[in-house]
Amino acid sequence: MVKIKIFAACIAMILIWSCGNKQSSAPGTSGDAPGSSTSAEAADSDYDPKRGEGKFNESNLTLETSLNVPMAEAGEIASGVKCTSCHKLSEERLVGPGWKGVTTRRTPHWIMNFITNPEPMIDKDPELQAQLELCLVRMPNQSLTEEEARNILEFMRKNDGIN
Ligand code: HEC
Repeated sequence: MVKIKIFAACIAMILIWSCGNKQSSAPGTSGDAPGSSTSAEAADSDYDPKRGEGKFNESNLTLETSLNVPMAEAGEIASGVKCTSCHKLSEERLVGPGWKGVTTRRTPHWIMNFITNPEPMIDKDPELQAQLELCLVRMPNQSLTEEEARNILEFMRKNDGIN
């Protein structure tokens, strides 16, 4: 009997010890988590939320202060074909956010980079991530040519009151 009791006590000790061991390894595991989030932050820090990701930047995209009317007109036609099924010109959301004010919320090169190649930016841009949660749809790549994209940007400027 005594032997059995001692044996049971040993088992209990081992169980307690192994549990304790698990607990002590837990902080180690959670210690890894900040490590991995640091590397995620490092990856994100390559992403510039003002510029987005792509070939357009301040030096290769220049806008006139006044509206280019023929470009804006071409952009209106192109967006009627490829964009306005999901975007209203007001502030109201349809599938995607309304376009009113987009040229003040975003830089021109951000817009150009995004609309010519949305996929990589949806994964990285914090505001696009937030919009994705609201819209539940990822904006599809509309295979815009550079010219179409530039015309649509001009139309967005017109929609925001540039003339
Ligand atoms: C199938 C629906 C759909 C179509 C078509 C579409 N978009 Fe989008 N768009 C979205 C969604 C949804 C978002 C929000 C971001 C996300 O979830 O991907 C978005 C976001 C945007 C944004 C960012 C808006 C902001 O306020 O930051 C711009 C600019 C934009 N779209 C331009 C365009 C242009 C230009 C076209 C046409 C060439 C187009 N979209 C076609 C669904 C669409």
